Amino acid sequence: MEILENYSLKNLNTFGIDAKADYYVSIRNEEEIEELVNTGIIQNNKFFILGGGSNILFADNFKGLVIDINIRGIKIIESKEDSILIEAGAGEFWDDLVTLCLNNKFYGLENLALIPGKVGAAPVQNIGAYGVEQKDFYDSLSGYNLESQKNETLNYNKCRFNYRDSVFKLELKNKFIITQVRYKLNKSENLNLSYKELSQEIDKVNVEKPDAKLVYDTVRRLRTSKLPDYRLLGNAGSFFKNPIISENNFNKLKERYNDIKGFNLPDAKVKLSAGWLIEQCGWKGKRIGNTGVSEKHALILVNFGNATGKEILELSEKIRHKVIEKFEIELENEVLII
Ligand code: EPU
Repeated sequence: MEILENYSLKNLNTFGIDAKADYYVSIRNEEEIEELVNTGIIQNNKFFILGGGSNILFADNFKGLVIDINIRGIKIIESKEDSILIEAGAGEFWDDLVTLCLNNKFYGLENLALIPGKVGAAPVQNIGAYGVEQKDFYDSLSGYNLESQKNETLNYNKCRFNYRDSVFKLELKNKFIITQVRYKLNKSENLNLSYKELSQEIDKVNVEKPDAKLVYDTVRRLRTSKLPDYRLLGNAGSFFKNPIISENNFNKLKERYNDIKGFNLPDAKVKLSAGWLIEQCGWKGKRIGNTGVSEKHALILVNFGNATGKEILELSEKIRHKVIEKFEIELENEVLII
């Protein structure tokens, strides 16, 4: 384990922001975490635990220590007649895990194909797409609690998963280093085609019985067509969360905006599409200097090359204000601002 100084984070965040960290360390196993704690650097500095860097925006240089988790390894923990318990190191790429599972006929994660980032970040923001969230297959995780200085296992109930949320963004924020995550997957296919756009795409393909491979391929195609490739155009996926409002407010909006999109949730709540709101404000495809809003999807802010984190943040504020002005809805960031 080596602590590096004045380290460029440009290749470690999908926005491609050239921020620098005062200190940087790459962690490959649990022993290195204890070694790091013993140096005292964590106790004396601000620190940030980095996964794939696909959901963060460095608004400035980081005056502290970036802990880059590179713990690898995927293994089967338990195999039963109908299910399999699989464990992945926090530093494995999420999409590699999804692909490995599909290739081995372990089913469930196929709707979550091609999500950028690493396994350790998946529970933190409870990643989700096309009708599935990681919580639907989550079993437990292991990690190091920096407060108690002990290794702990957290089962489902302890994680308090919610829409793009979990205990790791709340009480355990900056207190817990996830090292391995375990998922319980099915040995037989049980497709989730609840997301309308996914089922519509699958209907277009002329097959008698869709299978998990088709879901996996279709999700990849949909994502590729809508979300810019961060290797070509820096971005962090959806910049804002989809806002959740009351059914009452939704009905009022519906009177004014006939084609507003809403998805009914329990407890008389409706989830709106932030992409639609932003598009209605005229932001889709707009560019300001080095930053802009993707022309493919209004929820994606992009770095055209040399944008600073501050410039992206300023753009996001402008968009937020416009949406408040037009719809009286305040968009919450999905991306973590550092
Ligand atoms: N829409 C527009 N204009 C746009 C984009 C979208 O009007 O420019 C409307 C369309 O009506 C579209 C609807 O929004 O049908 C939904 O769009 P999409 O299917 O792309 O989903 P989303 O709600 O914008 C969410 C997640 C994505 C995830 C997709 C698919 C959030 C914040 N985002 O986006 O997750 O891939 O659903 O399930 O929940 C991410 O979290 O970074 C991410 C990409």
